[in-house]
Amino acid sequence: MDTVRVCFVCLGNICRSPTAEGVARALMADRSIDGVEVDSAGTGAWHVGEPPDARASEAAAQRGIRLTGTARTFQPGDFDVYDLVVAMDRSNLRELQRLSEEASDPPPIRLLREWDPMAGDDLDVPDPYYHGGFELVLDIITRSVNALLSDLADR
Ligand code: 4NP
Repeated sequence: MDTVRVCFVCLGNICRSPTAEGVARALMADRSIDGVEVDSAGTGAWHVGEPPDARASEAAAQRGIRLTGTARTFQPGDFDVYDLVVAMDRSNLRELQRLSEEASDPPPIRLLREWDPMAGDDLDVPDPYYHGGFELVLDIITRSVNALLSDLADR
């Protein structure tokens, strides 16, 4: 099976997307899924070079999940690297769609909560940076990434 490369994208690349990356790695290990590689990036540059937000890392650590990496921005050339780009909210999605207009053959760009079995009308993973909600973010990301991995493992 060819490796599938997935990039999770949020705004700052310090809260939601590194959480999705860390959760995906943990779930892939638990479920013995190989053939999927995960990464993350942000659409904004404010936190480039920083590690994941301490509140996100703490909430993840409580569940035995380690967040890794340093923040970077999603680059137009990344459309050539990944097979699937997964946005955390509609604002990230719009920004990625705008960037992809310059790309010759961009991969699918989707919202993570398209895979959330409990999603209602709102397909945004809420931004926890200013007002918190890291537990809720972890709950949403865990069930969505679980379903996404099932889709990818079934290919
Ligand atoms: P993230 O959270 O997009 O989930 O990494 C944010 C991080 C930083 C900011 C906004 C959201 N900020 O405005 O600096």
